[in-house]
Amino acid sequence: MKTMEWKDNKLVLIDQTKLPDELTYFTCESYEDVILAIKTMIVRGAPAIGVAAAFGMVLGELAGENSQKVAKEIKASRPTAINLFWAVDRVLASDDFLKEALDMYKEDIDTNLAIGRHGAEVILDGDTILTHCNAGALACVDYGTALGVVRSAYHEGKDINVICDETRPLGQGARLSVWEMQQEKIPVKLIPDVAAGYLMQQGEINKVVIGADRVAHDGIVNKIGSLMVALSAKRFHVPFYVAAPLSTFDHDISIYDTEIEERSSEEVIHYGGCRICPKDTEVRNPAFDIVPKDLITGIITEKGIIDPDKFNEFFQKLKYEDV
Ligand code: MRU
Repeated sequence: MKTMEWKDNKLVLIDQTKLPDELTYFTCESYEDVILAIKTMIVRGAPAIGVAAAFGMVLGELAGENSQKVAKEIKASRPTAINLFWAVDRVLASDDFLKEALDMYKEDIDTNLAIGRHGAEVILDGDTILTHCNAGALACVDYGTALGVVRSAYHEGKDINVICDETRPLGQGARLSVWEMQQEKIPVKLIPDVAAGYLMQQGEINKVVIGADRVAHDGIVNKIGSLMVALSAKRFHVPFYVAAPLSTFDHDISIYDTEIEERSSEEVIHYGGCRICPKDTEVRNPAFDIVPKDLITGIITEKGIIDPDKFNEFFQKLKYEDV
């Protein structure tokens, strides 16, 4: 299963808003369609947003649009995941937009396989792993980051169990992560978001592995709810890992300077099509959390696992090796 395919000069996306009940596709024939898909979360998850945005640039070029204008509009579709900006700038700087987008598509899969390989090293036989939101195949082109680690450990024959929390308000954990695990018959249970602390206190969770929308020298930004999971994990000594490709790293800023997307109040007021609070209730709906580095055990990348306290050293070494 691929989250997206480039076919006949169109971008075909799994419509994630319809999962798990319907596996349907949304075809982007223009860059405006890609923007709509990102805004409405037909496609979501940092790496998937990045690669979709790259194909959006291609669609803009095919339509004869000014690439700077297209880039600006695509970048305005969602503010938090750095992959969106990284992907648009990378395509913009290339001589051949389509080749660059196709390269990024392929790289995303290879990167996730490498993250999976490194991450599986810290997963032990018998572990029960909590994951938050969906950092799986659906959040990427394929395989996934956090769920890629789970997949690799499972395929290595480790006896593991996965716990997905619901991830209110949009239920990416319940709708998408549970669905992905069930497709591969990886043992999975769903919990309400509020149950994570209790299960850690009871010793029923041995590891947390989540994704990220941005990684900086002082921590990470990821789906709302990540901070409460991280705080519980620290309190109950449960190792808390973040799995993210280097394309999610933002070297220039502090996590506290990241723009946190505030989404529509409708997402909180309604659940599963039903209103769950009085009409006209005032709402706050920040979509992402900031998790400081002291709560993080390690960041699993395609180049290995980073100790958050040795962030700069890791990148110095990487630079040196690349030279
Ligand atoms: O709002 P979403 O569903 O796009 O948020 C997604 C997440 O927070 C993921 O955990 C993150 O993008 C990592 S995906 C590999």
